Amino acid sequence: MQIQFPSSFLWGAAISSYQCEGRNFNTDWHRWEKAKGLDRAGWACDHYRLFEKDFYLAKSLNLNSFRLSIEWARVCPVFVEFSQEALDHYSEVIDVLHQKGLKPVVTLHHFTNPTWFIDRGGWLNSKNIDYFIAYLKRVVELLKEKVEYWIIFNEPLVYIYNGFIRGIWPPGVKSVKEAKKVLDNIVQAYLIGYEEIKRIYETISMPVQISLAKHMRVFSGCPGSNFALNSLSAFLRNKYFNFWIVEYLNKKRSLDFLALNYYCKEYTRFKGLIGAECRHTKHRERKNDLGWDIHPKGFYNILLKLKKFNLPIIITENGTAETKDSLYEDYLRQHLKHLAKAILKGVDIKGYFWWSLLDNFEWDKGFKYRFGLIEVAYDSMVRRIKPFAYVYAQVCKENKIEV
Ligand code: BGC
Repeated sequence: MQIQFPSSFLWGAAISSYQCEGRNFNTDWHRWEKAKGLDRAGWACDHYRLFEKDFYLAKSLNLNSFRLSIEWARVCPVFVEFSQEALDHYSEVIDVLHQKGLKPVVTLHHFTNPTWFIDRGGWLNSKNIDYFIAYLKRVVELLKEKVEYWIIFNEPLVYIYNGFIRGIWPPGVKSVKEAKKVLDNIVQAYLIGYEEIKRIYETISMPVQISLAKHMRVFSGCPGSNFALNSLSAFLRNKYFNFWIVEYLNKKRSLDFLALNYYCKEYTRFKGLIGAECRHTKHRERKNDLGWDIHPKGFYNILLKLKKFNLPIIITENGTAETKDSLYEDYLRQHLKHLAKAILKGVDIKGYFWWSLLDNFEWDKGFKYRFGLIEVAYDSMVRRIKPFAYVYAQVCKENKIEV
């Protein structure tokens, strides 16, 4: 059976500034890599200079939209100063997207912060929210005539979990108490940011849609002797990690659409109330290069659960890192099939963005894992479209899929 997507469906790919642009030296991540002796993002994909070429390739794959993030530490490299060069750059980037027929979806915070912000206490200090809002206002003012979709934060709970509970990302804190403070401040910043963006758009005719990108997983208790307690942790992760923030912001009427990032299933084991991932080789699911349990049916289940919010949904990230091209293709087909099935069940899905357009810097894991539709040879910066990307290009062109 063939399923036709709505005619205005957004077919895109996503990237983030720190993972692709290169030379983002004023960020907390750059400082962290140096201090920890980790793989350095360095030039990343040199996308800051090669963006035009990358958008040309995106267009050649029949995409009609593109998700990117703005690097706060570029726009505000030093305390309370804006860089005109960076603002001009991002303005040009958005213009080029439009010239190529790619509708921009713009993220304002994708895990990284300016070092001066962190030196003042970062997200632990509620007084610092104002700095983020000043940046948000400046960027939104600049781009308001050219951007309809804004994502204020990418995956705040992933940022908080890795940076303030597990301590494996900057600032490397391991404290539930501190994590709670950061959560409160980020939620507050989101709510203020949402109002500010709405205010800015009041005076113009451009429509605006605002959200935050929410990473969701299917959580399941790790099998074994502790199954009951493991299932309790899985239940709590589903309730709080997946749904709490969406429910809260929706009650405050501060989400115009749901932005879903979905990758995999997670088996959870009991480890205090928060629980932890249980990485087993015995699970039924196929694993990708990162050991993630691939579970396309879970994508469908989550989409159906999101129906109750009565909000349009955009899949702002879905993707995998594989060594074999056929596995990317299988992942793509399976997830699109379940997406299409959810549409048939009445879920209002407006778009789908593959993560990522380019192979890029995968945070604490460096460059080893490759999520791109396009391969990047990091020594020469040469791009090569991967075979499975042509399968995606065909779907984008035909706007339909066989299920
Ligand atoms: C993040 C990306 C990341 C991807 C793959 C998402 O949760 O937004 O920055 O590269 O997952 O791990």
